[in-house]
Amino acid sequence: PSGASATLQRTLALVKPDAVLSGHAANIKVDIEAAGFRIISERELRLSPEFVKRFYAEHAGRHFFEGLVDFMSSGQTLALVLERHDAVAAWRAMMGPTDSAAARGTFPDSMRAKYGTDGRRNAVHGSESVDRAREEIRMVFEEFTEESINGQITNVLV
Ligand code: TYD
Repeated sequence: PSGASATLQRTLALVKPDAVLSGHAANIKVDIEAAGFRIISERELRLSPEFVKRFYAEHAGRHFFEGLVDFMSSGQTLALVLERHDAVAAWRAMMGPTDSAAARGTFPDSMRAKYGTDGRRNAVHGSESVDRAREEIRMVFEEFTEESINGQITNVLV
């Protein structure tokens, strides 16, 4: 060990119904682990429209909200808890821009460029902050306690 300290973080990743249906979930997990994340928990589930409305409540009333709810509840989703140094920002960066079609021009190696279709069917989700990660993980994985997600016990020596 170098004696330096790094903070391990946890974040929620979702492989959305488009990518699960297209058979991309296994490759997405390979890419995630190759980028140094540990998959702490995983669960495949079909999100209900009510769940999706709560999960994306910040977008209620936006023009795309109904389409988003329909899409996210249209099939199986794979939910993953990821752990890594700086996991929240690292996974957001790896996902790429929201619109998969645009991402193919600007970030061709990103998950959304590789596995998504357009601005709605964009293959993956990632929490946008440490606080949101804590909330989102607990929405999907009810067995996690607040303390086990981005609490003070995750300081490790590297
Ligand atoms: P947003 O939180 O803005 O993007 P991100 O997923 O990159 O954090 O939007 C949430 C989801 O809503 C996005 O992944 C796909 C969907 N969406 C649309 O369908 N149309 C849109 O115009 C936008 C902005 C988002």
